[in-house]
Parts: sequence; structure tokens; C-alpha cells
Amino acid sequence: MSRLSDVPNLAELIKGHRLEVFVETGAGDGEGLRYAKELGLAERMSCDLNVGNAMAASKWGAVSTCDSVTFLKNLRVTGRCLYWLDAHFGSKFGVVGGDEWPLPEELRVLAGKPGIEHDVIICDDMHCIQDILNPTREDGPGHDWDPVEGTIFELYDPFRETHVAHLYGVSTGVLVMEPK
Ligand SMILES: C[S@@+](CC[C@H](N)C(=O)[O-])C[C@H]1O[C@@H](n2cnc3c(N)ncnc32)[C@H](O)[C@@H]1O
Repeated sequence: MSRLSDVPNLAELIKGHRLEVFVETGAGDGEGLRYAKELGLAERMSCDLNVGNAMAASKWGAVSTCDSVTFLKNLRVTGRCLYWLDAHFGSKFGVVGGDEWPLPEELRVLAGKPGIEHDVIICDDMHCIQDILNPTREDGPGHDWDPVEGTIFELYDPFRETHVAHLYGVSTGVLVMEPK
């Protein structure tokens, strides 16, 4: 689990792409929402299937208690967004019956959104992707995440035409997709 504050050059990305809205999946303890406020993002929204987490995090923004894919499908925003996609491995957070790795589906939903070509999309926990070509990959036991099949390229693929990808080995690995 990375923190939003681990992401390199975040203030510059927000300023450079004139981002106004923070959209997060997986609110956790609200630290992402809190940090987005500190960075000047006035409109902030998130979701969490753990109702206790959703309630605690709602101190810092609007938090829905639905699953991340439904949340993104129902999203109506005007203004350029910073997406922080961090809702996975729900069973490790007391969530029963949620999709453990909804990230590929979340990205497919976002790829169809009007205006997405202006938005910055950041995915957490790239270390878990066991693709041999993933330079941030970590394996072996003792992590608070499970190994995931697939590739970083598959995650980036829907945004190839519109975004540049940066993969950082900070914390548990973050993939930043920035408008070209
Ligand atoms: C690592 S924490 C999020 C931390 C937070 N984003 C931050 O930056 O401080 C992951 C959260 O995602 C939630 N979660 C996991 N799977 C989910 C899903 N499929 N839909 C919605 N929330 C989910 C968990 O309940 C947990 O609170």
C-alpha cells in the first residue's frame, strides 16, 4: 500500500494539467482524501466497501459505500480529474465478497469516459503484478497483497493513444498515466 504522498511530482502534475477534482477508489482511513485537500483539490470523492472506513474517511470528502467499478460507472464530474485507484485486496480490509483485483475493469470504465484524455490516472500496488517484465515486481511471502497475473502493459493499453505511462518503484509501486 502506497500513500498518495509517495507519488513523485504530484503537485507539478496537478498544476501542469490543471486538475481540479480528486477521484479515489478505496478510501481507507481517508489519508488520500486528506492529502488531496492539502494539494488544493477542492472537490474530492471516493468509495469504500468497508463501511467503517467509508464513514471515517468522509471527514475529508464525499465517500460512497459501493464497489469501485459501480462507483466509477456512476461518476458524474465536470473538471479535470486526478484518479487514485487504490481499491483492491478487499478481504485484507474486512470486505467480504468484493472483487479482489477490480483495477483492469476500473480502467476499462475510465477509458470510455468523455474528457479522460485530460485526466491523470494513478494506480497503486504495481509490485503485486507478477509479470517477469515488470521492473517493480516483488514476489515471495510476507506482503499485505496477493500476487496478480497480467501485465503493466495490459493496464496501460486502453490509454496508449492519449497518455504517457511512468512506472515508479516507490513504496508498493505506482503507475502514473499522464495526458500526452
Ligand atoms: C489501501 S486502502 C486505501 C488507502 C487510501 N486510498 C489512501 O490513499 O490512504 C484500500 C481500501 O479499499 C477498500 N476496497 C477494497 N476492495 C474494494 C472494492 N472492490 N471496492 C471498493 N472498496 C474496496 C478497502 O476496504 C480499503 O479500505
